Amino acid sequence: MKVLVTGGLGFIGSHTVVELCNEGFEVVIIDNLSNSSKEVLTRLKKIVDRDILFENIDLKEKDKVVDFFNRHKDIKGVIHFAASKAVGESVQKPLLYYENNLTTLIYILQEFSKKEKAAFIFSSSCTVYGQVDMLPITENVPLKPAESPYANTKQIGEEIIRDLCKVQENLKAISLRYFNPIGAHESSTIGELPIGMPQNLVPFITQTAIGLREQLLVFGDNYPTRDGTCIRDYIHVVDLAKAHLVALKRVLEDTQESNYEIFNLGTGTGRTVLEVISSFEKVSGKKLNYKITDRRTGDVTVTYADIEHANYVLGWKAEKSLDDAMRSAWKWEQKITSNKL
Ligand code: UD1
Repeated sequence: MKVLVTGGLGFIGSHTVVELCNEGFEVVIIDNLSNSSKEVLTRLKKIVDRDILFENIDLKEKDKVVDFFNRHKDIKGVIHFAASKAVGESVQKPLLYYENNLTTLIYILQEFSKKEKAAFIFSSSCTVYGQVDMLPITENVPLKPAESPYANTKQIGEEIIRDLCKVQENLKAISLRYFNPIGAHESSTIGELPIGMPQNLVPFITQTAIGLREQLLVFGDNYPTRDGTCIRDYIHVVDLAKAHLVALKRVLEDTQESNYEIFNLGTGTGRTVLEVISSFEKVSGKKLNYKITDRRTGDVTVTYADIEHANYVLGWKAEKSLDDAMRSAWKWEQKITSNKL
């Protein structure tokens, strides 16, 4: 069965392609290489030991989207990852984010939803919740105003899909709200490839440990948490990738409760920044050079997922531990830095 994965050479996309191929799906990747590398395709083929179709298409070019679906009439499912995702950049360049993240979604839905049966998985984020005041976060809490244009594109993206599902019963869709994806494939063949200075905690930790960065700055230790640092729900990217497979099968097999559903993807357990550092030090055997500094503007104190809905309805649960994720992230860092790929 043929499935389109947009953004399939990115961090979460590439890990999902592996799971799909392992399950026997025929995968076509669309990626414009704006935040990824063609090398990832070579590595993917190495992991799954077979060919994977790839097209370098910018999904903002509507005629190319139309042409793609005309050429691939046998596509049964779409997993849509392709999007810009840097929160800070989205504040500086809001139009770029609205254009990149929303026109592409609209063009794909316009073409794909013409099919008699269309199974669609949307890559959303816990960022849609905004500044929450109830923990753990359940899927049905009313969403707070978006904190950034990036977050707004995810809120609007979900609304677009929900509205379309109301009038088109042939469209079956699921939005997956990720918490903090970390780690890498156990083969260390694919992983996160931050361009320039990493914005997220785990690549910053591993780059510091390997000597690419001098010191990790921990943003604040005076939050009302057990050790004063912020709490997040860190989930292994392979667990996350597996959830996409389960969600896709659910829409393809038409076992949904309604034709549009939303699931949180997290572990359900919150970890402080210092706990993440301590896990890293344990699995790597290295002491990390870090220091406490001021709070980062915009950081929420605590977020972690309520995972009951995903557990019971989707039948999925994260299986890997924080240590597993940190071990794989460290192995991956050592491999990319020593250029042994
Ligand atoms: C990020 C994204 C958010 C997305 C979420 C899950 C940003 C600003 N936000 O949020 O949109 O929904 O991931 O994918 O990119 N930290 C440090 N030092 C560092 C880096 C981070 O102390 O150098 C701390 C942060 O203060 C935070 C935690 O580590 O408490 C995690 O930070 P980060 O990896 O950037 O993720 P989020 O802020 O949760």
